Amino acid sequence: MTTENKNIRNHQDGYEIDTLTNDRLIKGHDYDGIRELDNDLPSWWKWLFYLSIVFAIIYSVRLFVFKSPDLIQADEYNNEMADFKKNKSKINANQAASFEVKLLTGDASLTKGQDTWTKICAACHLADGGGLVGPNMTDNYWINGNTVQDLYNVVTNGVIQKGMLSYKDQLSNEKRLQVVSYILVKLHGTTPANPKAPQGKKYE
Ligand code: HEC
Repeated sequence: MTTENKNIRNHQDGYEIDTLTNDRLIKGHDYDGIRELDNDLPSWWKWLFYLSIVFAIIYSVRLFVFKSPDLIQADEYNNEMADFKKNKSKINANQAASFEVKLLTGDASLTKGQDTWTKICAACHLADGGGLVGPNMTDNYWINGNTVQDLYNVVTNGVIQKGMLSYKDQLSNEKRLQVVSYILVKLHGTTPANPKAPQGKKYE
């Protein structure tokens, strides 16, 4: 219901004017005497609105017409996973490449090697390396070769059918290298209490 208000006058362009405040009013928008102003939206707001329309059009065309791979979620996921796998194999390769199987002679490494030896290996090879279930480590006879790499390979992969276990999962690269270094530097060439008879081939 329109309330009488003598301060309102009609403007020729179709809206009304509040003659006290000079505000533009929307015709007919009168609710219990409360009139709705006919203000222009701020220009920053209008531009934001136009830009979002432009954005929506470009986005829709790219998504539905060109099916851009960076907008399709499944593709996006697959791309990220592929990137991740590529990086992961690179990191693994780097780590493998940077680990060198080379005799360790430092005291710290040999002490750690001895630690592993007495805890795990001595059960079959004896603490002094004389041999029990496993062969003697102090003599010049070796079944699987006498280089650091040969010993490292045995400890890594085991000789399962002969009773030597694989320590690939139980001991790190570093730990395996430490213990074989301990064998070659400290045990080999010593005289154990009860040496087991030579096994394998003699290396000078
Ligand atoms: C369950 C018993 C057992 C344990 C524990 C064991 N070994 Fe052995 N090991 C053997 C046997 C048996 C052989 C002989 C394998 C063969 O005939 O080729 C062997 C062989 C080896 C060889 C090669 C010897 C050669 O003459 O070629 C090395 C090196 C070796 N063990 C190191 C280790 C180290 C290091 C550990 C501890 C991390 C260990 N072993 C723990 C039983 C064992």
